[in-house]
Amino acid sequence: LFGLPEQPAHERVLLTTDPATGLQAILAVHSTARGPAFGGCRFWHYDSDLAALHDALRLSQGMSLKNALADLPFGGGKAVILKPRGDFDRDALFAAFGRAVQSLRGSYITAEDVGTTTTDMRGVRAITPYVSGIPRDGAFGGDPSPKTAWGVFVAIQAGARHVLGRPSLDGVRVALQGLGAVGWHLAEFLHQAGARLVVTDVDAAKVERAVVQFGAQAAPVNEILAADVDVLAPCALGAALNAQTVPVIRARIVAGAANNQLATPADGDALQQRGICYLPDYLVNAGGIISVAREYRGEGDEAAVMAEVGRIAERVEELLDRVRVAGTTPARVADDWARAKLVQTS
Ligand code: NAI
Repeated sequence: LFGLPEQPAHERVLLTTDPATGLQAILAVHSTARGPAFGGCRFWHYDSDLAALHDALRLSQGMSLKNALADLPFGGGKAVILKPRGDFDRDALFAAFGRAVQSLRGSYITAEDVGTTTTDMRGVRAITPYVSGIPRDGAFGGDPSPKTAWGVFVAIQAGARHVLGRPSLDGVRVALQGLGAVGWHLAEFLHQAGARLVVTDVDAAKVERAVVQFGAQAAPVNEILAADVDVLAPCALGAALNAQTVPVIRARIVAGAANNQLATPADGDALQQRGICYLPDYLVNAGGIISVAREYRGEGDEAAVMAEVGRIAERVEELLDRVRVAGTTPARVADDWARAKLVQTS
């Protein structure tokens, strides 16, 4: 795309505006090789249009890899809505977004992501069928965040077994960056498993609640990555792992929900050189897309979805075995593994 030569080719990118509602959105279809492009909709303030485009392109590519590695019959896509600066009618805005999704006639299926809610997706559903993540009476579905958190949790368990030789998470120290929809559920699972938590969030009230509810230790936002812990779980926004932060990380394992944690591929190499095992974000955070994909296809029930999300642990084990053979980094092995699955079905 113009101005972004480093970006991989996308099949289709729709830039759309709707002056009546203030909608400005980017719908990025990275690949439909495995099936319709499936990925959530982010609603966020961006510093520039280009920053939003960059985010949409990176996130949609990540969805292709995530869906392939999770063996889902879907390609990768993502939508980004630029949050209006002034007043706006949220229902009208998401209806306009629904019209944009509909215009792609099923080549892109949307769902929740950062900044969007099940209510927003209900509004989209009123316009188009190409949406998931909507609670239904007597059936599983809706908010994918708890499923995402469960996948990250089982990945951390597998990593702790493999890397730390710890059969359980009892007493394992975990630092959590971000106590939002996923981070909070993850904190609950970890606390129930006996992990000792160090937490941060830009929202002090969430940190305070975690201190009370989980006996967590609070850390300043700018110190969480350097916390003296066994596992670091980035659960806020992307690029947490970069040239400035990698040198200060003390955890032996990095495994979290945030998308695009590595600022560049070189940061994955730098982690490996420091003896830190990075479990690729799109492998461990696939629980949410597994849930909304099953919901969309009308398959299975809560137990079946949880079992499928639980298979993320097996993939982590397989990844770490492959890393031993390949002698390279988990990030590079996961990329090759996922790309091979993309090609196999194209
Ligand atoms: P969220 O918006 O509910 O939570 C993010 C949390 O991070 C908020 O509490 C926010 O205050 C906090 N935060 C923001 N900047 C921070 C900083 N610099 N330091 C510490 N805390 C900070 O979002 P959600 O849904 O929990 O997602 C978290 C990450 O996981 C995102 O990167 C998202 O793309 C990714 N993800 C989410 C999935 C889901 O099912 N919700 C699925 C797969 C990935």
